[in-house]
Amino acid sequence: MSEFSHIPVMLEPVMAYLLTGPGLYVDGTLGGGGHSEQILARCGQARLIGIDRDLEAIEAASARLAPYQERFCALHGNFADMTRLIGDQNAGHVRGILLDLGVSSHQFDCARRGFSYHEDAPLDMRMDATQALSAWHVVNTYPQERLAKVIADYGEENWAKRIAQFIVQRRPVDTTEQLVEAIKAAVPKSARRDGPHPARRTFQAVRIEVNGELAILEKALRDAVACLEPGGRLCVITFHSLEDRIVKQTFASLQNPCICPPRCPVCICGRKSAGQVVTRKPILPDAREVEQNARSRSAKLRVFQKTVE
Ligand SMILES: C[S@@+](CC[C@H](N)C(=O)[O-])C[C@H]1O[C@@H](n2cnc3c(N)ncnc32)[C@H](O)[C@@H]1O
Repeated sequence: MSEFSHIPVMLEPVMAYLLTGPGLYVDGTLGGGGHSEQILARCGQARLIGIDRDLEAIEAASARLAPYQERFCALHGNFADMTRLIGDQNAGHVRGILLDLGVSSHQFDCARRGFSYHEDAPLDMRMDATQALSAWHVVNTYPQERLAKVIADYGEENWAKRIAQFIVQRRPVDTTEQLVEAIKAAVPKSARRDGPHPARRTFQAVRIEVNGELAILEKALRDAVACLEPGGRLCVITFHSLEDRIVKQTFASLQNPCICPPRCPVCICGRKSAGQVVTRKPILPDAREVEQNARSRSAKLRVFQKTVE
């Protein structure tokens, strides 16, 4: 395994919002354990469960956090299954939960994982190498219309239909380089000037599809809030507008779930607020962090606090 390198994003604001006292914390996206290490170091009475769907992350974080082994345990799994994973540990309610979404720098920089359009590798992009669906299956077996929809919906790519058509014509597409070539052939040169790399949106879309990143998010957020103790907080860092929109809308609906018509004088739907959005606007990294860690550029932090009963 190559060395695991990942700089934790918005470390100080995350710690300030997340750590509200002793108790159980859950890092649902353990990665290299950067945020987790600080939770354990800064809060001597914190216990921590770290979850990641990537076994390489579990291995790297377990080694890094070995000095805290009496207060820390790492679980291989999807944070969408948090209720069950925590339940299996008989751990009780949770003081704070962190979800630092997306891929780690390690996953992205590790060429053989197939996440990067800068490196040639077999088409993979699975965060969890034990799952069956890979980028190869999406790119080579999805009908053209379905592939175009994935690229349009998850990549917000204007050329989605044409890219899907070119990919299908060139099948089998076995490597990241072959996928990049198909995309470059599909997107006219005039449309590529000054923009990001022409493959960026399609690679993002395929990655989101392979890992089911958006499909699980709303329910996972609702389940996470249900796991919190009164006053406990859920902190979520997103890296693109699609996932940030889901977090923003889900938090708003958890705060105000009432579906009564606006003219209804009293609430008759009976839906109760689960708590409050703490960050009216998302917290962004400061200029210094962006300069030091380009990956933080698009990060947004939103925080929800469960009702204190
Ligand atoms: C941005 S990195 C987290 C980095 C970590 N905060 C740190 O400081 O080292 C995201 C991690 O979350 C994991 N991940 C993404 N979605 C997940 C999910 N649904 N369930 C569990 N782990 C997930 C990825 O495998 C990756 O290791």
